[in-house]
Amino acid sequence: FKIAIVIVAAGRGERAGAPGDGPKQYRRIGGLPVIHHTLQKFLTWPKSGPIVVVIHPEDEALYAASTDGLGGAENIIVTFGGDTRQRSVYEGLRAIAATEATHVMIHDAARPFVDHALLDRIAEGFAAGNDGILPAMAVTDTLKRGGSDGLVHETVSRAGLYAAQTPQSFRLSEIRTAHEKAAALRHDDFTDDASIAEWAGLAVTIVEGSVDNIKLTLKRDIDMADEKLTQGNP
Ligand code: C5P
Repeated sequence: FKIAIVIVAAGRGERAGAPGDGPKQYRRIGGLPVIHHTLQKFLTWPKSGPIVVVIHPEDEALYAASTDGLGGAENIIVTFGGDTRQRSVYEGLRAIAATEATHVMIHDAARPFVDHALLDRIAEGFAAGNDGILPAMAVTDTLKRGGSDGLVHETVSRAGLYAAQTPQSFRLSEIRTAHEKAAALRHDDFTDDASIAEWAGLAVTIVEGSVDNIKLTLKRDIDMADEKLTQGNP
């Protein structure tokens, strides 16, 4: 099989900084833009096939500056995203339609700490015949359901509960059909691809994610990521 990579980077990332700081995927951690780190992980993974990056039309210059000096970046296919993450993924899937890929990994640009061991676990899942694979971590916090009255209503069992990560990975034809169906029905409120797969009736297998594979969402996440990388290279 041949694994294409879709990296979605068309969000505005407004929770991650002051107005004017720019989208979070272009903020610097360890001296380089977040998306530079993310792309490097996939460009250096031996099993990566074609790579598509989905950007916002206003970010072309930012994207070009972020891939400066990144080996292999000239082979990346760049396309424009939409108003929602779901729409951006759909555009990315359309852009790889012309390639010979059989499978696809769909990843958030805002998760720069993805590692090759995790990508290998997913590739092993494909080799074992799984068509849909979700990297996820078992929930470790005690979970509460709260009410609009501000009170705890109950403790929810965490047995069988997982926090979803990316890259969520699929047989390309199946996830593309599922996305097409969702778009045609204007079902546009899915926040990840595994939920579209579930809705379309595809089986999704869980593989262990990575504790480090966090999504940078808030300014604090970016500051912590920067500290982590800077400490490693003083
Ligand atoms: O906003 P959130 O953290 O959920 O975004 C997850 C990923 O999806 C980010 O890498 C972001 O750039 C991308 N995204 C996108 N198009 C959108 C919204 C988010 O590509 N319209």
